[in-house]
Amino acid sequence: MSIRTIAVLGAGLMGRGIAYVSALGGYTTRLQDTSREQLDKAHAEIGAIFEKGVATGKVADSAAIDAMKRLHTAVTLEDAVKDADLVIEAVPERIELKIELFAKLDQLAPKHAVLASNTSSLSITEMAAATTRAPLVVGMHFFNPVHRMKLLEIVRALETSDTTLQACEAVGLAMGKECVTVRESPGFVTSRINALIGNEAFYMLQEGVASAHDIDKALKLGLNHPMGPFELVDLVGLDTRLSILRFLHRTLGEKFRPCPLMEQYVAAGRLGRKAGRGVYEYPEHGEKKGKA
Ligand SMILES: NC(=O)c1ccc[n+]([C@@H]2O[C@H](COP(=O)([O-])OP(=O)(O)OC[C@H]3O[C@@H](n4cnc5c(N)ncnc54)[C@H](O)[C@@H]3O)[C@@H](O)[C@H]2O)c1
Repeated sequence: MSIRTIAVLGAGLMGRGIAYVSALGGYTTRLQDTSREQLDKAHAEIGAIFEKGVATGKVADSAAIDAMKRLHTAVTLEDAVKDADLVIEAVPERIELKIELFAKLDQLAPKHAVLASNTSSLSITEMAAATTRAPLVVGMHFFNPVHRMKLLEIVRALETSDTTLQACEAVGLAMGKECVTVRESPGFVTSRINALIGNEAFYMLQEGVASAHDIDKALKLGLNHPMGPFELVDLVGLDTRLSILRFLHRTLGEKFRPCPLMEQYVAAGRLGRKAGRGVYEYPEHGEKKGKA
């Protein structure tokens, strides 16, 4: 299976990072979003990451220029996927949206194309059932920020073929990632553990055990976590984390019941860095400010 062109659907936090590693990995990359504004922002942000990479000596100037030439944007799904060998969707974490998208992709993408979801938790098998090509449907779970995080969690759904898994691993390697392959299970390995830690941190904040700042500090300095749970959820997006928890609660039971305080933050629009405020506040230059 030869992969040359990758379509990335959804130009939010994750889609833009996946498009970056895809273009840098040598693939013709078509980044699509229903919002032209998001696409323009994504294109500018990807350019800025390349500029920073060149300035710090992590990316060669010529590699950055070539990668930007390989990056294209599209508003319609048809334009994005018509010549794709691999489609990676990174639209919001809602199963009905993903199922509808996979049904459309089955019609619009070439018959040989692998269809991958970057879902953090949902069932790839359910998405595959909306298509006529279940052996070509797979999970490719990247981590935020994609250009810095080493792991790619590849998820084998009920009918994913070995050839599809091998193709995804080869793509992951070309994108500079280390891969682990897991059998489909709610939240896979990473989201299941991370959701539990993050939710428990919110319960502690709700109970007044410590401030958000001190809970973060305790996990970083006492348990050697590179980021505190609140810093991390602000990066991930509280809405995304809440969707994951609701799904894990439905599928794995009571220990994943979302903390009411997290529900309140989401209701208040405190969605994290992307909204300018989450558990912490982010003034224009993106620096963390204040305690919760
Ligand atoms: N945020 C994280 O840290 C993280 C990490 C790993 C995986 N994920 C997963 O990645 C996916 C995307 O998350 P995100 O944080 O990038 O979300 P996001 O809200 O930042 O971006 C989603 C983008 O999808 C676009 N969109 C909505 N409907 C669309 C459609 N039908 N077609 C094309 N584009 C559409 C939106 O305009 C938006 O730009 C989710 O499944 C999430 O669980 C997120």
